[in-house]
Amino acid sequence: MRHLLSAGDLSLAEATSILDVAEEMHTIQSRQIKKLPTLRGRTVINMFFEDSTRTRTSFEMAGKWMSADTINISTKGSSTSKGESLRDTMLTLDAMGTDCFVIRHGSSGAVAQAASWVRAHVVNAGDGTHEHPTQALLDAFAMRRHFGTVDESGTGGDEVFAGKRIAIVGDLLHSRVVRSNVLLQRTLGSSVTLVAPPTLLPTGVEQWGVGVTSDLDEVIEGADVVMMLRVQRERMHGGFFPTEREYTELYGLPPQRLARLKPGAAICHPGPMNRGLEISSEAADAANSLILEQVTAGVSVRMSVLYHLLGGSPE
Ligand code: NCD
Repeated sequence: MRHLLSAGDLSLAEATSILDVAEEMHTIQSRQIKKLPTLRGRTVINMFFEDSTRTRTSFEMAGKWMSADTINISTKGSSTSKGESLRDTMLTLDAMGTDCFVIRHGSSGAVAQAASWVRAHVVNAGDGTHEHPTQALLDAFAMRRHFGTVDESGTGGDEVFAGKRIAIVGDLLHSRVVRSNVLLQRTLGSSVTLVAPPTLLPTGVEQWGVGVTSDLDEVIEGADVVMMLRVQRERMHGGFFPTEREYTELYGLPPQRLARLKPGAAICHPGPMNRGLEISSEAADAANSLILEQVTAGVSVRMSVLYHLLGGSPE
């Protein structure tokens, strides 16, 4: 694997290998001394041209826990704010001997473009409304562990996803998380249904090969996982739904809807959450909420991704 740009680039074997190695990395998190020598002498630059709390921090932790030298760059502190092009910035940092770039950028396609210019490995940490492959991997990791505990199917192997029903709910139009999840979950073998008001469904969604509905109540009882997505106000220019109250009623998880989930069904949210809008506090803090497990999984999965890109032999 040279780059990780899209969840759709991963074969079942590659995705499973990332999840399996992440399982080993997971044990590090509970140790007092969190350090492996794996990436000693390798340099990872985190370039975040868009805001981030968990993705940036977990990539930095992942690199540090594996002894890589990690450097953080954001738009404000870099020469892109002096007018330097992304290409020149990338070529400059690549020329210094960087081994891997982790890039988040506001424009869809910018990370793949950056990857075409450099010698180093590139990980897409979110490009516009396009993709966020490590988020889909960490979601799958948290789900796989959860399925392992509820139906004793174990945490190993790919068969745990077969027949599982995943509902992804909310602002799908602006979400890179949904695109990466659809691609990865298709590879893993689960069945995905997208739920959103018609105004927040991406164009061409009928061709994605997944179920699509605007009625959350239709799918709530059959779902093994409900993944709630953030209403991305910063990407909305105009009204996409009449009122927040109506959105919460139709597409949120108030207690009465929460009660209709089947036993053992899990609640996910990639964060950051708008509590009271797309997710109620009752759902976010419920016993079957995987939200903090997803955050924990973020470090393990990103360690595994860096290991897969950088840890092997030079060939
Ligand atoms: C997501 C993102 O940035 O795409 N968050 C994340 O990485 N945890 C989702 C979002 O911003 O709503």
